[in-house]
Amino acid sequence: MKAPLYERLGGFDRISKIVNDLVDLHIANPLINARFANSDAAALKQKATAFFCAGIGGTETYTGKDMVSAHKGMNISEQEFIAVIDDALAALDKNGVGAEERMEVLAILYSMKSQVTRL
Ligand code: HEM
Repeated sequence: MKAPLYERLGGFDRISKIVNDLVDLHIANPLINARFANSDAAALKQKATAFFCAGIGGTETYTGKDMVSAHKGMNISEQEFIAVIDDALAALDKNGVGAEERMEVLAILYSMKSQVTRL
């Protein structure tokens, strides 16, 4: 049986590095950075890391909002959603994540589209 995605991605240290890179890419991405103008980047990195770890087999606890509550009222577009996914793929590539794990993360992120967009 395959190890959980959490372990194949290298556990907390490597995942938090990937998520930190992801948030930095969002802040540099002109398609979406206005959305994060008032964000506390360190707090967002911590929450997003816990969210992702908890969802893929880690023992971390996520205490933030569910995805619908977190994005309600923002009317996030499909273009913005794809920009976030592109940043995620770039962060995975930057950290040398393998092709199989990359596709698994892409599928997980895409599956949340209806909980994030047009709310
Ligand atoms: C699958 C895609 C996404 C995931 C997994 C995700 C995940 C999260 C998480 C875990 C939080 C923290 C919730 C909390 O504060 O309790 C959050 C907040 C937020 N997300 Fe997303 N998100 C996604 C897509 C997007 C998109 C496409 C945008 C718009 C470009 C966006 C904009 C935001 C903003 C503005 C916040 C609030 C940041 C803050 O409190 O400073 N998200 N998201």
